[in-house]
Amino acid sequence: MSTPSQRHVLVGVTGGIAAYKTAELVSRLIKRGDLVTVAMTDAATRFVGVETFSSLSGRPVLREPWGAFEDHESQHVALAGQADIMIVAPCSMNSLSKFAAGFASDMVSLLVAAIDRAQTPVLLAPSMNAAMWNQPATQRHVATLQQDGFTVLMPETGWQACRTEGCGRLPEADSLIEAIDAAIIHPQSS
Ligand SMILES: Cc1cc2nc3c(=O)[nH]c(=O)nc-3n(C[C@H](O)[C@H](O)[C@H](O)COP(=O)(O)O)c2cc1C
Repeated sequence: MSTPSQRHVLVGVTGGIAAYKTAELVSRLIKRGDLVTVAMTDAATRFVGVETFSSLSGRPVLREPWGAFEDHESQHVALAGQADIMIVAPCSMNSLSKFAAGFASDMVSLLVAAIDRAQTPVLLAPSMNAAMWNQPATQRHVATLQQDGFTVLMPETGWQACRTEGCGRLPEADSLIEAIDAAIIHPQSS
């Protein structure tokens, strides 16, 4: 549970090469005093170890929808109700499609599905190579998600992990934090 002056930020990490940049985001949020809970997909753990995020956040990383139940309450329901905001960074093409279609089959998509976005904004930061970003399916899903009330943080253009220039880079931690602060509905007065 966060203290009254603390924001509780849920960070979903999915399977993209930019997952290493999310470690910086979590570190910066913790440094400024936020409570951060990280959830990872299986693919995300191929890019950054669970221990990196548990060490940086000082909390267990959520991996398993069938994990710990507290007082007989599902952890995704409890967390969805406690969080002030959720950001999925990087948001893979695969997870973006799942969110657009309403799938809830892993810890990250389950949390996204359990959040009431009228109370708790959900920011999605897609990151993928330019070909994946330009797919009609990806662009269709982005439009659907925006219509459904998600905030999609547009990827940047520049040097990509596939060693070409293109659109699909995850914005740096500074921009993600700015977007989080702009989106939080009930800012605390700390
Ligand atoms: C080396 C490698 C790098 C990848 N990088 C990305 C990426 O940057 N963005 C993306 O959308 N998918 C990327 N993928 C594909 C995803 O990891 C894959 O679609 C996975 O199923 C995503 O699962 P998730 O959405 O459950 O995390 C990459 C795959 C590999 C093997």
